[in-house]
Amino acid sequence: VSIDWPGLRTAAVAAAARAYAPYSGLRVGAAGQAADGRLVTGCNVENASYGMTLCAECGLVSALHATGARHATGAEDGPAAGAEDGPADGAEDGPADGSGAGAVPRLVAVAVVAGDGAPLLPCGRCRQLLLEAGGPGLLVDTDGGPVELDALLPAAFTGTDLAQRRDPQREDPQPGESR
Ligand code: THU
Repeated sequence: VSIDWPGLRTAAVAAAARAYAPYSGLRVGAAGQAADGRLVTGCNVENASYGMTLCAECGLVSALHATGARHATGAEDGPAAGAEDGPADGAEDGPADGSGAGAVPRLVAVAVVAGDGAPLLPCGRCRQLLLEAGGPGLLVDTDGGPVELDALLPAAFTGTDLAQRRDPQREDPQPGESR
């Protein structure tokens, strides 16, 4: 997959300019390239109740899913495969164009910048969020150039840990069923 880094950085700067950050004064913009080639963006959105702040990467991941090709319900979709096993190539989950029914939208590269235009390393929570959306091989821009997410979030908790370590006696609740 060819990554349009100049395009990602430019889009991230544009998103940062639209940030709503009156409390911290730190504008953040994020831009990502999806496996199907789409460009998705997000900016941070703060709130008078400080803890409710949304990081730019949250908006980015929401846009990835909200604008991605999916079938009607999405009920049978699992997490992106690369989020829980080995390095992801970013394109193994569906057709090359990513438009097939049931294809889970997937990130292959992200650029996150502050209002000054320089790369900003994603916070810990957002590294976890990005892992689910792009897997450990997701390329993240830094001052020193792109690095794999695995280098920023080693030994991560993933859906594999969840599946292997949950209570074996647990009965899966059915949708709409109260427990
Ligand atoms: N912020 C992000 O948008 N992404 C990060 O990865 C780090 C922090 C935002 C949240 C808040 O609006 C501001 O930066 C200061 O923490």
